[in-house]
Amino acid sequence: MNITVIGTGYVGLVSGTCFAEMGNKVTCIDVDANKIEKLKEGVIPIFEPGLEAMVKRNYENKTLRFSTNLSEHLDKCDIAFIAVGTPMGDDGSADLKYVLQVAKEIGENMSHPLIVVDKSTVPVGTADKVRATIKEALEKRKVDIAFEVVSNPEFLKEGDAIKDFMKPDRVVIGSDDAETTEKMRNLYAPFFRSGSARLITMDVRSAEMTKYVANAMLATKISFMNEVANICELVGADVNDVRIGIGSDSRIGYSFIYPGSGYGGSCFPKDVKALHRTAAEHGYDANLVAAVEAVNDKQKLVIAKKVIKRFGEDLTGKTFAIWGLSFKPDTDDMREAPAIYVIKELIGRGAKIKAYDPKAMHEAKAFYLKGMDGITYCNSKYEALIDSEAMILLTDWKEFRIPDFEELKAQLKQPMVFDGRNQYNDKMMRENGFEYFQIGKKS
Ligand code: UGA
Repeated sequence: MNITVIGTGYVGLVSGTCFAEMGNKVTCIDVDANKIEKLKEGVIPIFEPGLEAMVKRNYENKTLRFSTNLSEHLDKCDIAFIAVGTPMGDDGSADLKYVLQVAKEIGENMSHPLIVVDKSTVPVGTADKVRATIKEALEKRKVDIAFEVVSNPEFLKEGDAIKDFMKPDRVVIGSDDAETTEKMRNLYAPFFRSGSARLITMDVRSAEMTKYVANAMLATKISFMNEVANICELVGADVNDVRIGIGSDSRIGYSFIYPGSGYGGSCFPKDVKALHRTAAEHGYDANLVAAVEAVNDKQKLVIAKKVIKRFGEDLTGKTFAIWGLSFKPDTDDMREAPAIYVIKELIGRGAKIKAYDPKAMHEAKAFYLKGMDGITYCNSKYEALIDSEAMILLTDWKEFRIPDFEELKAQLKQPMVFDGRNQYNDKMMRENGFEYFQIGKKS
């Protein structure tokens, strides 16, 4: 099939490249000419394992092209995916200006029947707005060209994006037209080696809702466990054991019940807020959804509170090593990362920070902690320990999992670890002489 993907952000670039890998002819469009030129040279703007090689391979094979010119490519395609950003507005709702701008451009330029697919995460009712916008543009041109709007939300995880797209758990297709559903089914059939049982079709609004509910449910599991962790500390229980105890029930399961420093990233925080907002717009007060967010906001600072409890309110003259800045491992993404909140809290109390992250330090310097005094970025995890009172672990990168504990002892002022991701065995830490603080267990 000939496919146009509009927006070369995370979702657009991964989807476009994976469709090309399956033999489709794909053109990825972006308004950012600089980005498009870089992509043609094989330079990708994000860190995602396996993506760069796949982009290069498909660009060389000519299955993948890059362009800034939407109108030129609309002529040749059967399906146009809208994968532009939906930033969060001040009121917590998803801002649709880019999505609707693209819809308008499609209506202004399309010359033959087209399937338009919403791939961006968009609130319920957006497909109707996209449809109305395209229709209006066509009416202005006084032409009548058939088109269908489909909702096909994306469920990929940063760091696992290629795997998630190439071997999906499920693909959700929301369409109100049977023939269009069939065409979408054919597009995705090669991704399911064992048939298309996990290709789930439904109406457009249900598909839009599915995306928000999936993320809100996962965020709920995390906030619930973080709340349980905080109660465990108070009653003298160990959340690590409780987690294993409850996960053994297959109805609960082991995934997404790891307590920690709260969820971050571009999806959960934004989608939980947007679901709450959507409910409010329909006159419903979604208390549980609001609580998921409130618990998460508090959780991001739990580890900072433990540092303050140990060292006092005034941290002047104290230096702390931070291991991990990204919101999760295998990404350089720092959006809503707990590290931002913890570092600001500690620096606000006079502390100095020595930070190390395998991938996210440039993001921190350029955006999230830009111009902040009191942070030194280090070349290695061990360098960050020198002259620091304690190590604070905030992202569960694999390289932090089994560090050289003797080196930790040698470099830190005292053997002390605040573990915001429960990576170590507390008995082993204590036997090795560490003062060890973790989430959900009394220190
Ligand atoms: C999430 C969803 O997992 C994807 O299915 C979805 O497609 C994506 O959002 C999206 O909407 O685009 P992502 O934000 O990449 O993916 O990250 P996750 O791996 O889901 O992790 C989210 C956060 O939850 C991280 O901060 C992680 O540290 C935290 N987490 C995860 C926990 O604190 N505990 C857990 O048990 C699991």
